[in-house]
Amino acid sequence: MKDTDLGFIHRFVPPNSNAKEAMPTLLLLHGTGGNEDDLIPLGKELAPNASILSVRGKVLENGMPRFFRRLEEGVFDMEDLKKRTDELAEFIVKSSSAYKFDPGSVIAIGYSNGANIAASVLLRRPEVLAGAILFRAMVPFIPTIMPDLSKKSIILLEGLYDPIVSKAEAQSLLELFTKTQSSVTLKWQNSGHNLTQEDIVAAKKWLESDSNL
Ligand code: MLT
Repeated sequence: MKDTDLGFIHRFVPPNSNAKEAMPTLLLLHGTGGNEDDLIPLGKELAPNASILSVRGKVLENGMPRFFRRLEEGVFDMEDLKKRTDELAEFIVKSSSAYKFDPGSVIAIGYSNGANIAASVLLRRPEVLAGAILFRAMVPFIPTIMPDLSKKSIILLEGLYDPIVSKAEAQSLLELFTKTQSSVTLKWQNSGHNLTQEDIVAAKKWLESDSNL
């Protein structure tokens, strides 16, 4: 299969077939200007036996891939966000049958713009994700009717000194996911917008012991 056949340029890494337990599939979503290769080492570090589906955003901003259009920093194009969220949800469904992974055990791992589209998928198409690790996420949109996310586990890893995602923004996202009844945790990191080793340690601990995933 060509890596564009399912609608997005992507990479799929099959699970370790010797693993004793059923493994989740990690859906990796890069930040602005990234691509499908960026987060693979992170995914392998977080869950070495899991399968990985790593996707490249289709929108180009000055040549830099993103998952949806923005009008300016922090101001999203809501129509495009809706359309791209649905496209990504369809891609997850098609990929689960093409690569034969359990569609009920997909965990999104997103950074920055990738975390924002993952949050949007949770709010608009929750059926395609079991949970999410969101690094430096913002509120993508506020749903008019709150979805029921009571079966989803989410961790928000936000930077105390992030110049892009304010503390108030991160707190609003926590409140939004709390209203959906999800099992959500916000963990402040001693960092800015960039990912740090501390993020990886916190995400791994959550995935292995606190998330119930
Ligand atoms: C980014 O630079 O990617 C922003 O901080 C987040 C976004 O635009 O979605």
